Amino acid sequence: MKQKILVTAALPYANGSIHLGHLVEYCQTDMYVRALKQLGEDALFICADDAHGTPIELNAKKQGITPESLVTHYHEEHIRDFARFDVAFDHFSLTHNDSNRAIVNEVYQRLIKAGQIEEREIDGNFCEHDARFLPDRFLRGTCPRCKSADQYGDVCEKCGATYTTTEIIDPKCSLCGNTPVIRKSSHLFFKLSSAENIAFLRSFITSGALQPDIAAFVKNWIDGGEGLRDWCITRDGPYFGFPVPGKPDKFFYVWLDAPLGYVASSAEWAEKHGLSLESLWQSPNTRIEHVIGKDIIYFHTLFWPAVLKHAKMTIPSRVHVHGMLTINGEKMSKSRGTFINAAPFADVVDAQALRFYYACKASNDASDLDLSFDDFVQRINSELVNKHVNLFSRATRFLQSRLGNQLGELPSTDDVQALMYKTVALGRQIETHYRNRELSHVMRLLGDIADIGNEYMQSHAPWDQMKTDPEAARLTCTFAVNICHALAMYLSPVVPRLATAMASCINADISRMDAGLLFALKNRPIGEITRLFDRIEKEVFDTLIASTASAPVQETELPEPDLDRISIDTFGQVKLRVGHVLQAEPVPKSNKLLKLMIDLGEKQPRQILAGIAQHYTPDLIRGRKVVVVANLHPAKLMGLESQGMVLAVNTAGKLIVVDPGQDALPGTEVR
Ligand code: MSP
Ligand code: ZN
Repeated sequence: MKQKILVTAALPYANGSIHLGHLVEYCQTDMYVRALKQLGEDALFICADDAHGTPIELNAKKQGITPESLVTHYHEEHIRDFARFDVAFDHFSLTHNDSNRAIVNEVYQRLIKAGQIEEREIDGNFCEHDARFLPDRFLRGTCPRCKSADQYGDVCEKCGATYTTTEIIDPKCSLCGNTPVIRKSSHLFFKLSSAENIAFLRSFITSGALQPDIAAFVKNWIDGGEGLRDWCITRDGPYFGFPVPGKPDKFFYVWLDAPLGYVASSAEWAEKHGLSLESLWQSPNTRIEHVIGKDIIYFHTLFWPAVLKHAKMTIPSRVHVHGMLTINGEKMSKSRGTFINAAPFADVVDAQALRFYYACKASNDASDLDLSFDDFVQRINSELVNKHVNLFSRATRFLQSRLGNQLGELPSTDDVQALMYKTVALGRQIETHYRNRELSHVMRLLGDIADIGNEYMQSHAPWDQMKTDPEAARLTCTFAVNICHALAMYLSPVVPRLATAMASCINADISRMDAGLLFALKNRPIGEITRLFDRIEKEVFDTLIASTASAPVQETELPEPDLDRISIDTFGQVKLRVGHVLQAEPVPKSNKLLKLMIDLGEKQPRQILAGIAQHYTPDLIRGRKVVVVANLHPAKLMGLESQGMVLAVNTAGKLIVVDPGQDALPGTEVR
């Protein structure tokens, strides 16, 4: 039986939009998996949204919605964004679901059985103002290791260290800014620092699963000054996560259930395909490969393999670490306008161009990758368009316009033989580089193949051959079309839509990546030629940056604010009544207020001041039915008493008075 290769990309937090930084990982991994599949491997690309933890809880709180609706919103958005960038997961789940809950509980039981869990009472930071413990992001302070200020309670973004919330220096509550007090609480620990686990981790980091520099880095965490600590896997409620069975008000820490999301998402895929989860995560026949950014190495190379070992699941064969994206040489920045999200980018640039660029810039170590706009435009225009796409259009144009759309023989000269041999050899090298996920090497060799076609066209000049010997021109173009077949075959994982369009124009099959299938297009018609890819203008980036920089740092608009619910009785305390505007006049010296006399079905009409003068003239509002809050305490505005409030909607700066309809009778209660 063929070995399965199960590849994962890190689970993006369902707490914000996918941006160009994320896409380095998702695009590069997608290209790798597409290539494996095209090479005939049984590969699987698994991912999910990461739904739990304090940042999500905090963000939902800030927006007045539930964490569930926040993560659902982003889950749907992420699915749309990934589709636009051709990131084709075999399965993309969400960690906040029943299959993940079941896996987490199962693994927890296995860890207990393996004697890896211990309950301990520890000190925690408790905010008396907010009446809660302050795990992770609910706490800010100075990193106890590298002393960087303003770090989170669980992990330092500067040095990558993880620590407990009581180690952090000068802690402050993220919600209210107060200094918390120390309180005792019981927590579960995974015994990461046992001699047995350390021995296992040493063997893991030298197993070849890690790039050499990463292995050295991780070894230093084990052997360096502080050594490993046992790992606290629970958090006090309130916490958005899975409750710990049998431990009231305790929840599993997100970094336990998130990687298990890889397993749960695989389980969902397996079920859809009539396979068992064991065949994926408990079988020597499946090879597990994770791709992650360098900010989350600790979780994937220490906690995770140890958990898997005691859960009796497959240890990853590979944890592949990549670097971070910089833009024009600097960190992505909201104020510089370089914090660019996936969707606005794809609105102005064909998303495949980014994939092409990220393939060219891929490296196999964890060094950072720079997207410079000049370089981007230059590479797309001079490589993708000038080399690949232009060869294609030049080769096919003659066949279409002058040679009846018909391919001939391949030229039977020795130098064509040599070029074919060279192309196949390059193809074989590309196949190997794809297997080793060496995408930048792939791109370099693809450029070499395109050069073969372009130079042949240039030196044989079919536009001249046409004049004297059209059949010679046909041979030249036939050779070039066969080079285009190679380009389409090997570009397919990188720019799948473009490659498919190329292949279908020349009636070539690129479903398999195999140099042995090249140079088979002869003596047959080619299909309809379509426009493939346009040059990119540098100016699109000016617009993109301007719009990104000027966009207010706004929270995404989300439906149903539903935190802080009130009872029906509370609502009943507000008396809303239909009013009839009998009179309306401006208020002297005020450009905002109108003075209204409103009939509420009472003995006397009421005088009510409404701040609508910039949107309604007295004539426009006089005679209309409105909705009034009738039981407010009277208030004085510009020296005039106002005996109620007229309801209005503020839509994008425009005020619209709420209209109960002209048939509504004054004084009727609005409920
Ligand atoms: N939810 C965790 C991962 C859990 S995996 C069990 C997380 N999410 S994330 O949304 O912050 O990042 C997802 C992936 O994108 C990570 O591998 C991260 O390194 C990568 N990137 C996020 N920003 C990036 C750049 N600016 N550049 C390159 N990769 C980036 O971490
Ligand atoms: Zn507080």
